[in-house]
Amino acid sequence: MATATETAPVSRPQIRRTQLLIDGRWCDSVSGETFATYHPATEEKIADVAQANAEDVDRAVKAARRAFDEGPWHDMDARDRGALMLKLADLIEQNAEELAALETLDNGKPISDAKAADVPLVIDCLRYYAGWADKIKGDTVPIRGNYFCYTRREPLGVVGQIIPWNFPALMVAWKWGPALAAGCTIVMKPAEQTPLSCLRMADLALEAGIPPGVINVVPGYGETGAALVAHPDVDKIAFTGSTEVGQIIMRDAAQTLKRVTLELGGKSPNVVFADCDMDAAVAGAEFGLFFNQGQCCCAGSRVFVEDSIHQEFVERLVDRAKGRQLGDPFSPATGQGPQVDKDQFEKIMNYIERGKEAGADCKTGGGRWGEKGFFVEPTVFDNVSDDMDIATDEIFGPVMSVLPFSEFDEVVERSNKTLYGLAAAVWTRDVAKAHRLAAQVKAGTVWVNCYDVFDAAAPFGGFKMSGIGRELGEASLSNYTELKTVTMSLD
Ligand code: NAI
Ligand code: MG
Repeated sequence: MATATETAPVSRPQIRRTQLLIDGRWCDSVSGETFATYHPATEEKIADVAQANAEDVDRAVKAARRAFDEGPWHDMDARDRGALMLKLADLIEQNAEELAALETLDNGKPISDAKAADVPLVIDCLRYYAGWADKIKGDTVPIRGNYFCYTRREPLGVVGQIIPWNFPALMVAWKWGPALAAGCTIVMKPAEQTPLSCLRMADLALEAGIPPGVINVVPGYGETGAALVAHPDVDKIAFTGSTEVGQIIMRDAAQTLKRVTLELGGKSPNVVFADCDMDAAVAGAEFGLFFNQGQCCCAGSRVFVEDSIHQEFVERLVDRAKGRQLGDPFSPATGQGPQVDKDQFEKIMNYIERGKEAGADCKTGGGRWGEKGFFVEPTVFDNVSDDMDIATDEIFGPVMSVLPFSEFDEVVERSNKTLYGLAAAVWTRDVAKAHRLAAQVKAGTVWVNCYDVFDAAAPFGGFKMSGIGRELGEASLSNYTELKTVTMSLD
């Protein structure tokens, strides 16, 4: 039952023009150039966004460097840093409704998801990492001889953070949380499709009292990101996005031997055994793929279903796909909004055509929804074979591939037959089978009888071409620290 506040209409933020944040000041780009951001449900322009070029990136990096080397951030007690992060989380909580509306406006995701998932996860993530700020510590090390040896975990320095458009605000929190806790300073480039929530969060960071230069925001396209990767005074790049761009970043970062962490694409197997709780598995398969319009790096896009339940499972899945409510993402009843932009829409429609041509069985969907906006019908392909493009490539849309299987070893092998290794899920009542699969599948996250369960404390990241390093949890702190060994003679 929805409460009154959940069903009340959410007002659409009015923003016409935005600026860059450099050294605690909002400013236009050096070139004066801007780019437009659009509401994907109506294709209408929302705002002109100041576009940072290499010179702006350089100004931002210099500000971040000053803040790191000389600014108040450098001398601040770790506990006080944590307190500022808590203040930021509180301010976001006070402005939760507005931030959720910005996500819906810029990305097109349903307001109900933005309010129930994205924004609460943002707040939780910042609070979690605020708690780490004063708990990052080294060891004393017993070495041979008469020495006192210890390690220190020092902040890495100036970090460049490049994020995608699928969870715009949440990706800000995943990146800022551990970096701020570790004592780093930040130059962030939000995705060109969705810069608005990041800019608003940066505003709240200033209001919280996070000192000038600690967080800088430089919106722009890929070349703005590339300027950050090339900059000699950036110590580290943290990137989330496509595997293709991840490869470019890793190659370009070699020039200055920057530290790099990459959270990239996936083609995650969702394995359904005949002994599962069928209601839960059907609901989990729907949620695991269609959530966020299928625009999740960990989307359960390959649904392996055991032969004996295959037919019933697909029928029930198709019913659920047909029942999904598409429409205005600002309507509280909407369960599926538009894809983020025309490029993504066209990429998805192209994959649907290729699936049909390859002979996969399109059980439902397969077309555009409506006349305006980048909506794609929830689509289920059955009897997909492993070598079809729709089974191998990340589609990043509401397109599910169902692949029947018969044996445990077979499904493990087929699950792992991919370049990716981000996530996997298994549905079974057999505990031993669940653990066996969890151990054998090559993926950074395995969900058993659930899907998309995220927590700021639980590490997340990819095997193989799904990335390098882990976000969230204690693990992410090592992305933002250098380990120093100090050895002192006691003679
Ligand atoms: P993308 O990887 O091009 O964009 C992600 C971020 O990287 C954006 O901020 C973009 O401006 C920046 N970027 C692009 N080229 C760059 C370069 N050469 N150097 C530095 N930064 C650069 O992703 P895009 O084009 O938006 O989507 C393409 C596909 O990538 C999607 O269809 C999906 O398959 C995948 N993707 C995966 C995501 C994930 O969460 N793992 C998120 C977004 C996209
Ligand atoms: Mg791109």
